[in-house]
Amino acid sequence: MNGLVFLSDISKVYRSRRREVTAVDRVTLGLDPGQIVCLVGESGSGKSTIGRIVTGLTDPTAGDLRYGGVSARSMSRRELKASRLAVQLIHQDPYASLNPGMTVGATLAAPLKRHEGLSGTELSRRIRTLLEDVGLTPSGLFEPKLPHELSGGQRQRVVIARSLTVDPKVLVADEALSMLDVSIRVSVLQMLRGLCDDRELAVLFITHDLAVARQFGDGHTVAVMQQGRIVEHRDTATLVANPEHDYTRDLLRAARHEGLRSRHSPHPQSVPATNAPAMPPGR
Ligand SMILES: Nc1ncnc2c1ncn2[C@@H]1O[C@H](COP(=O)(O)OP(=O)(O)OP(=O)(O)O)[C@@H](O)[C@H]1O
Ligand SMILES: [Mg+2]
Repeated sequence: MNGLVFLSDISKVYRSRRREVTAVDRVTLGLDPGQIVCLVGESGSGKSTIGRIVTGLTDPTAGDLRYGGVSARSMSRRELKASRLAVQLIHQDPYASLNPGMTVGATLAAPLKRHEGLSGTELSRRIRTLLEDVGLTPSGLFEPKLPHELSGGQRQRVVIARSLTVDPKVLVADEALSMLDVSIRVSVLQMLRGLCDDRELAVLFITHDLAVARQFGDGHTVAVMQQGRIVEHRDTATLVANPEHDYTRDLLRAARHEGLRSRHSPHPQSVPATNAPAMPPGR
């Protein structure tokens, strides 16, 4: 199946005058509606490159990328644009991906006007519903706020709401929650997972942390990347309980170590933004 997106034997080689880096090496991976694949692996293993290929930000050097069973190579520009709009990327840094001068309401209104042609009461209703869907309630409180008036968790909720404005079929979340404090991360993780389940969204969830993958990918699968290759891809519970690959065992050890560390001391990036409210709703 893997009807929404399918990567068949995809490779990506970055070439410069001095060296050649094989970021992705013959990877085959697919997503169906409602399916979650967590992509884990150490830094530089090629996770983001795969995410960029899926979202169309990077072209593969070799292999076949299919949307809805049709090869991207055989699509017209217009078809490709529509296919790519159905795949939305959620970045790691919500602050960087939001316009600092745009209110939450305006941030959501722009794509709703552009892509859906909404205006007036219908536009206001959609904005309200989206904010409620991502747990930013009461929505009227958040609509006039600027990004710097929000906490990190709230900002990431706005980014998620914005990605939903175009009614995507696939989400690519690249370390989307790794900048958040551990306690906030859990609530945003649960919200995102609930949204994906409700809307039957397919998700490529990229993380270096197997503990996070274990939680988000519960009931789905985890693919482990090492040096551009997928070395193990199995259902989440089996992979965690019984890893086949030495590298997966190392990642599990690292995840356990990290789990212990975060229980004893705050995450270095857990300090809230200076001008964020002390205990805001919808963290
Ligand atoms: N634009 C680029 N030009 C040259 N090399 C690149 C480029 N982008 C990525 N690479 C290289 O490709 C390899 C894979 O990078 P990638 O960013 O996909 O890894 P990653 O698994 O996402 O790492 P991290 O966990 O640090 O985000 C790395 O060796 C990286 O240096
Ligand atoms: Mg990356």
